[in-house]
Amino acid sequence: MRGIILAGGAGTRLHPCTNVVSKQLLPVYDKPMIYYPLSVLMLARIREALLISTPQDLPRFRDLLGDGSRFGMRLAYAEQPRPEGLAQAFIIGREFLAGGPACLILGDNLFYGQGLSTVVRRAASITSGAAILAYRVADPSAYGVVEFDAGGAAIGLEEKPRAPRSPYAVPGFYCYGPDVCDEAARLRPSARGEYEITDLNRRYLDRGELRVEVMGRGIAWLDTGSHQNLLQAGTFVEAIETRQGMQIACLEEIALRNGWISAAQLRTQVETMGRNGYADHLRRLLAEEMAA
Ligand code: G1P
Repeated sequence: MRGIILAGGAGTRLHPCTNVVSKQLLPVYDKPMIYYPLSVLMLARIREALLISTPQDLPRFRDLLGDGSRFGMRLAYAEQPRPEGLAQAFIIGREFLAGGPACLILGDNLFYGQGLSTVVRRAASITSGAAILAYRVADPSAYGVVEFDAGGAAIGLEEKPRAPRSPYAVPGFYCYGPDVCDEAARLRPSARGEYEITDLNRRYLDRGELRVEVMGRGIAWLDTGSHQNLLQAGTFVEAIETRQGMQIACLEEIALRNGWISAAQLRTQVETMGRNGYADHLRRLLAEEMAA
């Protein structure tokens, strides 16, 4: 399965912070926001990914992440000229996906917690239909919302409903079979003029091919859509990293653990990273590998 990371949008809710820099490049505590969703694709063992962003911002992502080989991935880049909806990723990404299954992750979604790898790997293992997640939140009205029947089967999907029918929001991680580009091409723009991911998911729900996995409360799904949410996400990462002496979303670490890069490769890379918490963490990791 190939991945798409969508990092577009005007980010108007975060102005003036995002007047000249993409929201997904802003720091979440100690690393750029885009590291977090990228790490989730890596945990799902997705090695080839397309990063989609605005024409202005795309060069910055390319500068930051390059061809991905540093962390054992193959990254490609594509422009989304105008923010016309999340499902447009599959119009833009059609060639890259080459008729195969696809996983879309939103560049501003943060996931962390025990069991996360299992959940995302399970979703990414589908070969047909669609697999999405559901997560209980206090205010689902800002999200796609999924409704379940008494037996726990998904029966409805709504985008940002004023009166949500359930507390279960749909996070920005979606997996689809090989027909996703064709399905996306059949969508019509919504009232707000966007190709909605919720409309795409509803097509799969209507044909009985939508799997919805409820993520337990042990996993954190954090939003970065407002100044307050962004600060809270940063504080969360800081608290965990400081307490545990670990790093969340350390791309080179995941690559090493996935067997995508060798310790020798990592050692060479770390030499050019300077003195900072991220590099120090990798140095510690290498020392532990040596000792093991
Ligand atoms: C988008 C989707 C929404 C989803 C959310 C997750 O909303 O439209 O269904 O729940 O991402 O982050 P946005 O936040 O882009 O308005």
